[in-house]
Amino acid sequence: MTDINPSQKPRPSAFVSRRQLIQLGLTTLGAAWLGTWLQSRLFPATDTTQEAQPVSFPLSDLPVGGTKAITYGGVSVLMVRTRESLRAFSLICTHLGCTVEWQADKKEFYCPCHSGRFDEFGEVLAGPPPIPLEQIAVSVEGEIVTVGEV
Ligand code: FES
Repeated sequence: MTDINPSQKPRPSAFVSRRQLIQLGLTTLGAAWLGTWLQSRLFPATDTTQEAQPVSFPLSDLPVGGTKAITYGGVSVLMVRTRESLRAFSLICTHLGCTVEWQADKKEFYCPCHSGRFDEFGEVLAGPPPIPLEQIAVSVEGEIVTVGEV
């Protein structure tokens, strides 16, 4: 007959350690994937090597009160046409570079990262952005709109 000491705890088996190691590995992979996914959503890559070529389109594509999304120099740009003006704004937030969204009902740009807000002229309304949205040159000749330096 063997003596069993009730105060002795059973040693964890190697199987438990292996399972914990696998769980840790999967958790680490999941966290890495989530971080990469979030980064790509919040800070979309911009192709800065692409030389900015002017973008042209018919004025009729952008009625008064409307907007038009284009890509200029690898950057997402939103055209906003009011009765008084036709402007092109980079959608890169001037705070930390997140992508701003146009909220047509409020006529504002909204940055989901830190709740930055810009008016329809790109001026800062609220939040941490230090300066207005970048504007890109726009020219209209006849019925053709051109975004960027010609
Ligand atoms: S990145 Fe837009 S408010 Fe911070």
